[in-house]
Amino acid sequence: MKTALITGGNSGIGKETARALVQQGYRVVIAARNVAKSDALVRSIRSELPQARIEWLAVDLSDFDAIAPFAAEVAHRLPVLDVLVLNAGLYTRQLTTNRAGYEMMFATTHLGHFLLTHHLLPNVLASPDGRIVVTSSVAHWMGGNLDLHTLRNPSTSQFLQVEPFRAYGRSKLANMLFVRELARRLKGTQVKVNGFHPGGIRSDFWRDTPAWVTASVGPFLVSEATGARTQIYLATQDGLTISGQYWAGRKVRKGSPANRNPELAQNLWRYSQEALGIHNFGSPDMAQSIDLRKAS
Ligand SMILES: NC(=O)c1ccc[n+]([C@@H]2O[C@H](COP(=O)([O-])OP(=O)(O)OC[C@H]3O[C@@H](n4cnc5c(N)ncnc54)[C@H](OP(=O)(O)O)[C@@H]3O)[C@@H](O)[C@H]2O)c1
Repeated sequence: MKTALITGGNSGIGKETARALVQQGYRVVIAARNVAKSDALVRSIRSELPQARIEWLAVDLSDFDAIAPFAAEVAHRLPVLDVLVLNAGLYTRQLTTNRAGYEMMFATTHLGHFLLTHHLLPNVLASPDGRIVVTSSVAHWMGGNLDLHTLRNPSTSQFLQVEPFRAYGRSKLANMLFVRELARRLKGTQVKVNGFHPGGIRSDFWRDTPAWVTASVGPFLVSEATGARTQIYLATQDGLTISGQYWAGRKVRKGSPANRNPELAQNLWRYSQEALGIHNFGSPDMAQSIDLRKAS
C-alpha cells in the first residue's frame, strides 16, 4: 500500500487530495493545526469509504520545536513515505512572527516545510517512486528578489512596506526556490520534486484578505476539487519523470525569472539551513540539537 503525508490536508485543496489518494488506495496521514476540522474530515472520509486508511496528526509548522517529534511519529507510522505533499499555507494581513522571530507566512510555508523535509527525506528516499509536491502560487511573481534581510524580526513598517501580498508572494517564491534546489540535490535518485499553482480557489484561504480583494477575486475562483487536480497528478501520476519544475493546469510553466535563479535558490538554502540549525540536510540523525531561537 502506498503512503502519503499531506500538510494542510484538513482543508481546501489538501482535503480534496487526501480524499482522492484514499480513493486510490493510499494510506494517508493529514497534518494540520485544527484538530476539530481534521477529526471531522477523517470521520467523513471513513464513513464514505469504510476501508479507508486515513488518520490525522496535529502540528503547527510555525513551531520549529514541534517538527522533529512530529516527523518522528510520521516516520514511525510510515517508514516508507511515497508522497510528501507540502501544502499548508496562509495569508496574514497583519505582521505576525513565530517564536523564532520569522515573519509568519515565510516561517510556516517555507521554513516549517524545509525542516519537515529534512526529517522525512530518508523515508521518501526509501520509496521506489518518491514524490515531493509543493503548493506554490502564481503569487510567487510578487516575491521580488526575496530580500533575506527582512525575514527575521521585521518591523511593522518594513512589513507594510513590502505589503502583505508581497510577503505572501515571498513565501511562495521561497517554495519554488526550495523545489528547484532540492530537485537539483536529489538528481540521480528516484525522488521527483515539483511545485505548482492550483489556480484561484474558493477556500478558507481568503479569510484574512481585505474585503475588496475577496469581492474582486470571488467571481473567478474555482472549486477546491478543481484546484487539487495538479497536486493529485504530481503526487500519483504513473511514470512521472519530470522533477524541479513549476506547474499549473498539469503542465510545466516557466514562472518568474526569480524562481529560476539558481543563485537565489542556493542563497535561500544556506539561509534556511542556518536558520534551522541543519548541518546535513536529509540526515536528521546527524543534525546537532541547537536552540533555534538563538539562530541568526
Ligand atoms: N486559495 C487560493 O486561491 C490559492 C491560490 C494559490 C495557492 N494557494 C495555496 O494553496 C495551499 C492550500 O490553501 P487552500 O486554498 O486549500 O486554503 P485553506 O483551506 O486555508 O488551507 C490551508 C491549510 O494550511 C494549514 N495551515 C496553515 N497554517 C498552518 C500551520 N502553522 N501549521 C500547520 N498547518 C497550517 C491549515 O490548517 P488549519 O486549518 O489546521 O489551520 C489548512 O489546512 C496554500 O499553500 C495556499 O497558499 C491557494
